[in-house]
Amino acid sequence: MIASADFTDSPVEPFDFILFGGTGDLSVRKLLPALYFRHCADQLPEDGRIICAARSEMDSDEFRKFLEEESKQHIDADHFDDAQWQAFLDRVLYLKIDVTDQSDYAKLKDLLDGRESHVRVFYLSVAPSLFTAITDGVNEAGLITPQSRVALEKPLGRDQESADKINDDLAAVFDETQIFRIDHYLGKETVQNLMALRFGNALFEPLWRNERISDVQITIAESLGVDSRGRFYDQTGALRDMVQNHLLQLLVILTMEPPVSVDPDAVRDEKIKVLRALKPLVGRDVIENTVRGQYKGGAYESGTVPGYLDNDDIPNDSTTETFVALKAEIGSWRWEGVPFYLRTGKRMEQKQTEIIVNFKKVPHSIFETADGLSEPNQLIIRLQPNEEIRMRIYVKAWGDEIKLRPVHLNLDFNDVFQKRRMIAYERLIVDVLRGNPVLFMRRDEVSAAWAWIDPIQQAWQQFQYKPKGYRSGSMGPSAASSLISRDGFSWYEE
Ligand code: BG6
Repeated sequence: MIASADFTDSPVEPFDFILFGGTGDLSVRKLLPALYFRHCADQLPEDGRIICAARSEMDSDEFRKFLEEESKQHIDADHFDDAQWQAFLDRVLYLKIDVTDQSDYAKLKDLLDGRESHVRVFYLSVAPSLFTAITDGVNEAGLITPQSRVALEKPLGRDQESADKINDDLAAVFDETQIFRIDHYLGKETVQNLMALRFGNALFEPLWRNERISDVQITIAESLGVDSRGRFYDQTGALRDMVQNHLLQLLVILTMEPPVSVDPDAVRDEKIKVLRALKPLVGRDVIENTVRGQYKGGAYESGTVPGYLDNDDIPNDSTTETFVALKAEIGSWRWEGVPFYLRTGKRMEQKQTEIIVNFKKVPHSIFETADGLSEPNQLIIRLQPNEEIRMRIYVKAWGDEIKLRPVHLNLDFNDVFQKRRMIAYERLIVDVLRGNPVLFMRRDEVSAAWAWIDPIQQAWQQFQYKPKGYRSGSMGPSAASSLISRDGFSWYEE
C-alpha cells in the first residue's frame, strides 16, 4: 500500500508505549481500542508494554478496571474477544504522574530502566501547553534513547507562533526523524485511497485540473456536540480544531502534484507546495469568504439536544465557532480558477465526511435529460459514515427514448474488502512504532497550515465577526449556502 509499504500484521519490535493523558477521552475511545486491535492481530510482541500516565490517583489494577468500564464499550461487540481483552490488559500499566513536577519522572525511569534497546514511544495525548513540560521532563530524566520517538496529538499550538515554539522545543530534544505529528485523518483508509486513486490510475490525471473540474467541496459534518470537551473546545473553535488540520490535509492530498515516489519526504514536499500556494485570505476578504456558526438546541430522531451556550463549561457569551464554511483558492497552473468550498461543523444533521469533485459540463449537449436538468459528472469520495467512491455519469435508460439519466458507478469498500475497517489510529500507532513517517506532518507543513489560518482568525477578531446561530440537526447557517450559491453552485445533498 502506498503509505506504508511495510504495513502488514507482522509484529513490531519490542516496545514501551508511554501514553501521557492515558485516562483522557481520546485514549479511552480510540488509542487503547486501536492498540487492542493490533494486539488481536498478533502485531504487538509479547514484550510490548503500554504505560498509561496521568494525574489520577490509582494503581495498574484500578486502571484496568477503569478501562474495562470506559474503553471496552468503544470496541465493536462483533470484534470483541474476552480472552484477548484480558491478555491485552496484562500489557497495560498505569503510572500516576504530574508532568510538571520533574521529580515524578524518576518513577517513569524506574519502569523503563534496563529496557533501553526497546523502541520507546512517548505519546502526548494532552493539551499542547503541556508538550514542552513533558519533552523536557523525559529529556532531563535521561529517558530519550536513540530508539525513542515522540508522537503529538493536534492541535499543535493555537497559531503559527505557538506551533513554531513547540516545534523549537521539540527540536531541542528530539531529532526531526523521531517526531511524529499526528493528524488522524491521514490514517483513514479512504484518505490513503485518495492517493491510490489519483496516482495508481492513469485515468484521473488528465482530468485533475482546472480545464476539467469546475469546483470542489469538502465537508466534515458531525452530529455530536462538544459535550464533555467544552473547556478545551471553547478555547479552540472549529477553525483550529478541524480546518487547520483535517480539512487542509484532505484538500492538500486531493490537489498535490504527483510525488516522484512514496518516500515520506517526496510526498510531504508536494503537500507543502499546495499549502504555500493557497491564496491568502486577509482582512475584508475573510469576511466575504468565510462563515462562522454556533449551534443552538435542536432535535434529532433520538431526542432533543441543548445548544452550545447551554453547556455548563461554556461562558454564556462565548463567540467560539462550532461551524466554519469557507472558500479557498489555490494559485497554481493546475488549480487557478477552481473554487474549493470547505465546511465543518458540530451538531449537524448527520456524521458525514465527503469530498465532491464536480466536473465541467459537456461543451455542447446533443441530448435531453429525463428530468430536464443537466448536472455535470461528479466524483463523490465518502469517508464517513461509509467508505465509498461514486462517480455520476449519464446513460440512456433501457427502453426509453434518448433521454439521459444520471446513474452512479459505486465502489463500496465494505463490499469489496469485506473485513473490519481499521480505526485510523491502528495504522498510525504501528507506523510510529515502526518509525515510518509518511502519514505524519512535517514541521514545515504544520507551520504553513497555520500561516494560512492565522489571518482568518485575526480578521474575525478585527471585524468582530460573530458566529451565526444554527439549529442542531441542520446543515449549518444559511449564510453557508449563500457563500456557494453566489458562485452558481450548491452544496451536494443526496
Ligand atoms: C478531532 C477533533 O481531531 O476530530 C474533534 O478534535 C472531532 O473535535 C474529531 O470530533 C472528528 O474525527 P472523526 O474521525 O470522528 O471524523
